[in-house]
Amino acid sequence: MRHEVIEKNMGLMIILIVVAISFGALVEIIPLFFMKQTTQPVENLKPLTALELEGRDIYQREGCLSCHTQMIRPFRAETERYGPYSVAGESVYDHPFLWGSKRTGPDLARVGQRYSDEWHRAHMYNPRDVVPESNMPGFPWLFENKIDGNDTANKMSALRMVGVPYTDEQIASAKTDVRGKREIDALVAYLQQLGTVIER
Ligand code: HEC
Repeated sequence: MRHEVIEKNMGLMIILIVVAISFGALVEIIPLFFMKQTTQPVENLKPLTALELEGRDIYQREGCLSCHTQMIRPFRAETERYGPYSVAGESVYDHPFLWGSKRTGPDLARVGQRYSDEWHRAHMYNPRDVVPESNMPGFPWLFENKIDGNDTANKMSALRMVGVPYTDEQIASAKTDVRGKREIDALVAYLQQLGTVIER
């Protein structure tokens, strides 16, 4: 085909441009699905416990993700502030991932074990009690709401279907593990394990 033919035919030109650009994207994206670095869990990565998993759902329900990221970029300013940068293998059990894109508050990817449980509880009840200049909202209802655990086992089975290695025992005991616990305790359990799989 002569080049002139393409240049004089808008429809054909558009189709060929789309093909050319898609090809570039495919070359970048497809290999990621097969690369060990992006599909293998990092060493010692464990699925969240039943309580931590409920905490993660509360994190999503309350929209913590709209103010907090969980992804440290490989820049010096970030690694000095938060700790080692995030790698894909930390997130292979996350469905959906909670990397976020907005930092009204700090990144939380390495917040686990940085504060005591008491600190987190005080902070969640009313952030200004521990960080006077904070503009984070309080979440006092988490101290009253209890988890019934009726869905916990189903959530874990669903996650197992997409590759999270929960054992039958973990699923069987899920309900009793979480039933009657306060939502705040699930949320704090979730926060306290964030990033602990990475050596710091
Ligand atoms: C409107 C935005 C906003 C929302 C929503 C929000 N936060 Fe925050 N968060 C902040 C800001 C700002 C700070 C920094 C000041 C402070 O420590 O309170 C912060 C700080 C924190 C810290 C301390 C981090 C550190 O390294 O010092 C934790 C933990 C935290 N938030 C967890 C949560 C959780 C869990 C939720 C959801 C239940 C949540 N935040 C919802 C804005 C927000």
